[in-house]
Amino acid sequence: MNIVIIGFGSVGRGVTRVLIEKKKFLRNFLGDYKVIAVTDSSGGIYDENGLDLRKVLEMKSKGGLPKEITSIEVIRDLDFDVCIEVTPTNVENGEPGLTHIRECLKKGVDVVTSNKGPLVVAFRELMNLAKKNNARLMFEATVGGAMPVIKLAKIDLAGNEILSVRGILNGTCNYILSRMEKELLPYELILEEAKELGIAERDPTYDVEGIDAGAKLVIIANALMGLDAKFKDVERVGISNLTPEAFKVALENGYTIRLIAEANRDFLRVSPRLVPLNHPLAIYGTLNALEIETNLAGNVFVIGKGAGSVETASAIISDLICLKSLRY
Ligand code: HSE
Repeated sequence: MNIVIIGFGSVGRGVTRVLIEKKKFLRNFLGDYKVIAVTDSSGGIYDENGLDLRKVLEMKSKGGLPKEITSIEVIRDLDFDVCIEVTPTNVENGEPGLTHIRECLKKGVDVVTSNKGPLVVAFRELMNLAKKNNARLMFEATVGGAMPVIKLAKIDLAGNEILSVRGILNGTCNYILSRMEKELLPYELILEEAKELGIAERDPTYDVEGIDAGAKLVIIANALMGLDAKFKDVERVGISNLTPEAFKVALENGYTIRLIAEANRDFLRVSPRLVPLNHPLAIYGTLNALEIETNLAGNVFVIGKGAGSVETASAIISDLICLKSLRY
């Protein structure tokens, strides 16, 4: 299996580390594999016989990748089986990831991505393009990091109709709200600490205004419920107006407050909601959680780490293995 990695930020490097450290183990699932190109927005390197990934990581940490090849040149000119597309999310127009994914699928090449932008902007188009070209687009890592959502619904809950989903899809907000609940501190103070955790988006308004959660909700609703929702369809209220006083009143009545993303056939919404303190969605820290309402299995809950370099790599690796061994 020849792999290219497009995007070499925290997720791209996390995947690379797993591909190095678990090489022997992963060969059991993937067969012989090699990464033949790695690019980011400022450089790129390739070797059709397989790159030495430790050296590539070292180059990146010591001043960046060389300028041997661009992302588009890799996709257009090299011969490969899978593209791991992990460039930053842009929910406005999906670029540059949208072009990368389109070009790969047109070539009939499988794509595994953590990039929400292209799927938020063009979910149906990309799925149809994949089908037409007999390629597959895998995107477990776009929603909830390591928390299994897409394959859980498609494989383990196969045969069920997904009626609605409701959950916590942004770890940064959940961390802030957990701390507000416990310490009754103002939001601004905790946001600074949340940024230091390294899971906040490059622009943290994506987190606190519910943009990141809204993007994930669109992908989940389209993938699991067969909708053709767009980002503009999400009614969205962020957490920046929540006060310690609101938490005090909620707690006195046995509730906490969480940023809840919910989708059913009537609406998609992200907003701060009261959650009973003993409810499964009253989770703490940077966790994500999702309640999936089905017609056969009833309600299924899943909780897990929604972000982080290795955690997101976990979802990408599981998609890679799935490409080899499972069809859904
Ligand atoms: N910034 C996101 C979060 C992680 O806090 O959950 C990536 O989606």
